[in-house]
Amino acid sequence: MNHAEITAWLRETDADRLAELWQSADRVRQQHVGDQVHLRGLIEVSNHCVRLCGYCGLRAENTSVKRYRMSADEVVACAEEAVERDYGTVVLQAGEDPMLSTDFISELIRRIKSSTPLAVTLSLGERSNEELAEWRTAGADRYLLRFETSNRMLYERIHPPRPGERSDRIAILHTLRELDYEVGGGVMIGIPGQTYDDLARDIELFGTLDLDMIGSGPYLVHPDTPLADPKNRPSASDDRQVPCDELTAYKVIALTRLVCPLANIPSTTALAVLDADAGWKFGLTRGANVIMPNVTPSKYRMLYDIYPGKAYTTEHIDVECINAIGRRIGVGRGDSPNYEKAACGLAIHLH
Ligand code: 5AD
Repeated sequence: MNHAEITAWLRETDADRLAELWQSADRVRQQHVGDQVHLRGLIEVSNHCVRLCGYCGLRAENTSVKRYRMSADEVVACAEEAVERDYGTVVLQAGEDPMLSTDFISELIRRIKSSTPLAVTLSLGERSNEELAEWRTAGADRYLLRFETSNRMLYERIHPPRPGERSDRIAILHTLRELDYEVGGGVMIGIPGQTYDDLARDIELFGTLDLDMIGSGPYLVHPDTPLADPKNRPSASDDRQVPCDELTAYKVIALTRLVCPLANIPSTTALAVLDADAGWKFGLTRGANVIMPNVTPSKYRMLYDIYPGKAYTTEHIDVECINAIGRRIGVGRGDSPNYEKAACGLAIHLH
């Protein structure tokens, strides 16, 4: 699909045409990743963050958040809970927190990998190449790092670099690939100043980067952030600005599936915030094949305040819900077929 076609779909308003988009995304999902819905247990390890992102409630300067950091034992207990619930993966997510040292995370990975059959996904922000390499050696399987937007100017406005550094998430995604991680990226949908052209380029970039996992969700305004103030907001003219609504989020999921047929694509929590009852279901029937239920203890979950409403999403997604839409709960780790394809290609190459 070319740039013009993606842009046209993003702007589409006709219900019959959109029904065709949902159907083709669902068909491609079925053909390439099948009917299994993989569940990933999300563990929000720490809400400390050194960054100053204009959109995120965990930004360092937000003094109204009470900060926490889980102990290794607490994280391992959550991983055990994930095993009990039959999940195949845990995702260790946190703000960019230097106190989560290289050794602390390595040790945690080793403990989880030696005592459970879980795949371990890390989502710890922009960390050094050395740390990423060490965590891979310790047994981490996957890494999630959304690039948020492919528009460099917009990215720099909403995501200031650390002093003396340049934030280059695309470069980190390449490093992760070289380290043989399963690599995940994604964007926010409807960031102030994000145009339809920008978002179409984001989706094209998912394909160019050949991502194994792609999670995107609507941008939600957090009142304690700079972007909540209209004076600080980047702007695009009304007819070019992407809305941060549910419909656009479903279009992005569907188009992502068409561009990256083999990727694992979650129906994200931000979608569940916009539509608590049916968000997950529409995500799954319009291209997604993954859900990430939260297994963080509730006393911490309440404090992981990236955007409003997040802590209150209840994801009571059980076998019946999944079966009701003609799908089944994933068995095993649910590795990305896109990653397996690459590994298989390499094996043939080496022969
Ligand atoms: N609205 C929606 N998504 C957000 N994220 C951070 N802040 C917000 C917000 N206000 C997303 C970013 C980040 C992920 C962990 O959460 O895309 O990569």
